[in-house]
Amino acid sequence: MFKKALLALPVALALGATANAQKAPEDVLQALIDADPGSVYLTQSEMNIMMMPDSPALWVGMDGEDLFHTARGPNNVSMEACDFGKGPGVIEGAYVEMPRYFEDTGKVMDLETRIVHCMTEVQGFAADDPAVRQRHGSGSDHMKLQTYIAMQSNGMEWNNPLDHPLEKAMRDAGEVMFARRAGMSDFNCYACHGEVGKQVRASRLPATEAKGEWSKAISWPAFRVGHDNVRSSQHRVRGCYYQMRQAGMLAGSDASIALISYWTDMARGQPAVLPDMKR
Ligand code: HEC
Repeated sequence: MFKKALLALPVALALGATANAQKAPEDVLQALIDADPGSVYLTQSEMNIMMMPDSPALWVGMDGEDLFHTARGPNNVSMEACDFGKGPGVIEGAYVEMPRYFEDTGKVMDLETRIVHCMTEVQGFAADDPAVRQRHGSGSDHMKLQTYIAMQSNGMEWNNPLDHPLEKAMRDAGEVMFARRAGMSDFNCYACHGEVGKQVRASRLPATEAKGEWSKAISWPAFRVGHDNVRSSQHRVRGCYYQMRQAGMLAGSDASIALISYWTDMARGQPAVLPDMKR
């Protein structure tokens, strides 16, 4: 009897694994490519597509899983006590529905600002604690947590809520920012992302109107091969403003969240590739 049970165990495990099997990020990307096979942006790096199953971001996400479930900070509680919009500790599908309005802060928050909130208000970390302050790099708590939480939305459709007036206002502000020309080159975001097939040096650019392209474009955290680090949406926003030679974006500012609200709305209904791999 005991022996029989032991023999049955691997079968049960195998079945369990199949039942829980999620689409891998590279499968989600492949579905985007199949839906738009002519997209040069989606297919520009065969090497990245080949490397995705071994993406270093997956390891960063695993570190994040440990961190998420560990009781930390002066209050000695884990991130399970944190509400990411679907109730405390519920992270499946939470990220594709952010930025969203949170009643406890009265603000529209993206994933990064929400993690800051939970680290300081729930776990009790001081705002200048390295765990809170260090936002970038694969070794940071932020990137580990962001990657783990975002991975629980892999393959799900972007769907940030716009029911609350502040959610709508932030999205609309982001649209204005996206279109606003400024700086010495008089660039706006549309200058480079408003038409399919644009290119800067060797980079093929994603266009907002090609919904599959845009879905991959906003799929952060992603392992940026050229940086040898996992990067966040906030990091990308900062880079975009630098690229346009406009005033630097403040991390976690309402402006950064407004932009992310708009760019997420532009990918609504498309599946998220999490974690993605980028140039
Ligand atoms: C001068 C052209 C240019 C402008 C203007 C520009 N971008 Fe980009 N954008 C790029 C390039 C090039 C990349 C590819 C990554 C890189 O080289 O940094 C990129 C990448 C991105 C990505 C990620 C896609 C990827 O594959 O890396 C997003 C999202 C994005 N930009 C959003 C924006 C937003 C939002 C603005 C306005 C605030 C903006 N961009 C303005 C050129 C531009």
